[in-house]
Amino acid sequence: MKSILIAVVCASSLMAASPEVGNYMQQLQTEASEPFDAARGEALFTAEQIGKKGTKIACTSCHGSDLTQKGKNVNTGKIIDALSPGANPARLTSLKEVKKWLRRNFKDVYNREGTAQEKGDVLTYIMQYR
Ligand code: HEC
Repeated sequence: MKSILIAVVCASSLMAASPEVGNYMQQLQTEASEPFDAARGEALFTAEQIGKKGTKIACTSCHGSDLTQKGKNVNTGKIIDALSPGANPARLTSLKEVKKWLRRNFKDVYNREGTAQEKGDVLTYIMQYR
């Protein structure tokens, strides 16, 4: 019984992404050298960098370190809805939004676009976040 429950929970965590985001991740995986890894995604998400503005910044600066909670944009002060699809089912459903914000946010923090590996790792982390 317990294993059935675990299987259901795992399946629903994978279904959090829309098919188009799922396909995008599969495409990224073909361009990446390692299987996507949530732990690597977490490291990337939490590491402080000297960002685009020349000051210290991490993904967590705006999204917070608990992805089930709302964050706050460090630049504008605006509240950002929770990033975890478990807490916010609208997350990782629109490929257009995902691509746009990954491009923008990687530039804010890492001063460059993310690689296929990095984008896949960080999406895996966000998707699996509990
Ligand atoms: C300067 C503030 C800021 C930083 C830093 C930041 N983000 Fe964001 N992020 C936003 C805003 C604003 C949005 C769009 C508003 C929203 O979706 O609520 C967003 C949206 C996203 C989305 C879209 C999710 C969806 O499908 O709706 C993803 C994925 C994301 N960010 C990942 C990251 C990652 C990865 C990093 C670090 C490389 C990062 N963010 C750093 C502000 C930030």
